[in-house]
Amino acid sequence: MNCLSPSILSADFTKLGEQIALLDQAGAQYVHIDVMDGMFVPSISYGMPVIRSIRGCTERIFDVHLMIEDPGRYIDDFVEAGADLISVHVEACGHLDRTIHAIREKGVLAAAALNPSTPLTGLDYILPELDMVLLMGVNPGFGGQKYIPYITQKIRDLRQMILRAGCQTDIEIDGGVNFENVTEILDAGANVIVAGSAVFRGDIEENVQTFLRMMDR
Ligand code: DX5
Ligand code: ZN
Repeated sequence: MNCLSPSILSADFTKLGEQIALLDQAGAQYVHIDVMDGMFVPSISYGMPVIRSIRGCTERIFDVHLMIEDPGRYIDDFVEAGADLISVHVEACGHLDRTIHAIREKGVLAAAALNPSTPLTGLDYILPELDMVLLMGVNPGFGGQKYIPYITQKIRDLRQMILRAGCQTDIEIDGGVNFENVTEILDAGANVIVAGSAVFRGDIEENVQTFLRMMDR
């Protein structure tokens, strides 16, 4: 099944709770939460206290994308704050296997995230341990950027790799997804779609419903 994961990085933070409720009512299955530390990426966003306080707004899956150095240090804290799914960047983990297992041992879903130019070969041995792979469609750090066209081929290659390995791994695409390119991205083999600016610009519920209609296949 295809799932939509609206990124609250583009939300109006004065109305964050209300906007999360709108996403839920419109049927978005996940809430994408971008955590940035000012080191792995230039920006600083939000962390555990915000996640804890919005946990009461919805029962949808909290899809926590850690754009932080050495994320293994904070897995317990993010699980306690309310994460259901945690993505860690392969570029930020000195010990990816250890970190993925630390996530799974906490009983939450585990994903590895790859920057646009990071090759898929980094997933060769760890793939069967992953619930999801997050492929960045832009260089991480900011919402509202343009999708990098070569990512579509990367999605196809990853879907082939997953099929060859006999796994059920989800493929999430994050960054630059909009109504114009979502069909191409799904056709290539992605099944979890992150959208920030394309959801929060204009009517949130209508945008979620439009995405869900396009993704219903
Ligand atoms: C980028 C973040 C994305 C971002 C997506 O570093 O990981 O989740 O919020 O925003 P859009 O959909 O506007 O590209
Ligand atoms: Zn993200």
